[in-house]
Amino acid sequence: MLRAIYPGSFDPVTLGHMDIIRRSSNIVDELIVGVLNNNAKTPLFSVKERVRMLKEATKELENVQIIPFEGLLIDFVKKMDAKLVIRGLRAITDFEYELQMSQTNHKLAPDIETMFLTTSLEYSFLSSTTVKEIATFGGDISQFVPPVVIENIKQKMEIKNKKESITHE
Ligand code: PNS
Repeated sequence: MLRAIYPGSFDPVTLGHMDIIRRSSNIVDELIVGVLNNNAKTPLFSVKERVRMLKEATKELENVQIIPFEGLLIDFVKKMDAKLVIRGLRAITDFEYELQMSQTNHKLAPDIETMFLTTSLEYSFLSSTTVKEIATFGGDISQFVPPVVIENIKQKMEIKNKKESITHE
């Protein structure tokens, strides 16, 4: 049985992530989407919110589970009893970071492999950061994220804008 981990921040999940999740869930028997709970970063969505949105977006994919993790990816992979990490590669700009990460992980845990899927062309420009930027300025993100993210990001932006207008008063 082949179990793989697709790790990331998913702040928030985009259609680019969904493309990788869907395609890898067709290749492996079980796919665990690992959501990084990173105290060093200040995400827009809490890990709980990111997990909840991912669960909603993947509810029709029977062999996909969403599990948060902290610390080293290789420790999470071992804990989940998996041997394979899947990452999406968009453009050449992703390559250096991804190469460094996969080689470091391989050095730390030689029995764990990283496999890359190239993102489908229509999502090759897309990132969570771009989505957040468009949403910040009230732009339409409906063609970039699953429906569950649209409502959630709207609420976040309203709270954020309210806070900012209070501090500027
Ligand atoms: O979606 P992202 O932010 O590009 O995902 C990056 C992620 C979560 C895969 C990466 O930051 C990670 O694995 N973090 C856990 C810490 C770790 O294992 N670091 C060593 C690898 S170089």
